[in-house]
Amino acid sequence: IYLGVVHSHVLSSYSPSSENLKKTIIDKCEAFIQNNKSSSANNCQKIWSAFEQAFVGRDPCNVPMEAYDPLMHTVIQDPVCNRMLFWSKTKKIVHDFTEKRDCFLTLEDTLVGFIMNGLTWCGKEKSNETFTTGCPGWTDCVNNTVRSFWNRASAAFADAACGDVTAMLNGSIATPFSPTSIFATIEVKRFKAAKIKSLSVVLVTKENKGTTCDDPSLQDLQKEIDPKLKYNCKAVPESKIQDCISHPDTACGACW
Ligand code: APR
Repeated sequence: IYLGVVHSHVLSSYSPSSENLKKTIIDKCEAFIQNNKSSSANNCQKIWSAFEQAFVGRDPCNVPMEAYDPLMHTVIQDPVCNRMLFWSKTKKIVHDFTEKRDCFLTLEDTLVGFIMNGLTWCGKEKSNETFTTGCPGWTDCVNNTVRSFWNRASAAFADAACGDVTAMLNGSIATPFSPTSIFATIEVKRFKAAKIKSLSVVLVTKENKGTTCDDPSLQDLQKEIDPKLKYNCKAVPESKIQDCISHPDTACGACW
């Protein structure tokens, strides 16, 4: 028993990938707090501990989203009513946009989303190690380490949604409201009419081509949400959003 403990301790302390992941996460966490983008009551060491306990020692295909409950309870995140921006299949443009302006915030602009964005991680059964390669891919198994994290973090982001909520969807694809997306399967289902006034869909289109707000999948979206919640949709040419990205002094209200 003694040897076993020492062995796994040595592995977890000296494995370069595990040390790198811890350092990456703590560095990103501290940078985010230093840039005053999050409450300084957050403790990056505690966040790391709560994070690793979700998946270390577990089969990387058997990490339910609830495994990240302790992490989500450790992170202190102020709600940002009226500025929350959801998205689906618009990852690049939505983040190019929010990087330039403070009027909207995506999950990836919050502490926990910022830290994990772009990272891959997993553990292994009966091991103290943390891996950043050889982890199951997004669709390899349902309850994989990374996907369950994004499901859980998205659930928390949607639970906190309040006021006027915006969603940037992709008007260049056949189904802008994709039934298998996180936006459809997790976020919309958690929208609470008691806290949310309206949902505004920004349908990003290429030169007024492609899908319109009449699209059947958007009608499904409208049916999904509580009727007490005001719904509107606007098709906005991608070029208009690009203009707003290149001219960050344009008032946010003029972007769509
Ligand atoms: N393979 C790999 N990664 C995937 C896959 C996949 N098959 N599907 C989704 N992802 C990851 C990618 O990182 C991708 O950019 O999830 C991201 C978002 O996927 P989308 O299908 O574009 O959108 P959606 O599933 O609706 O998730 C976005 O959830 O993250 C929250 O608040 C956020 O509203 C946003 C929504």
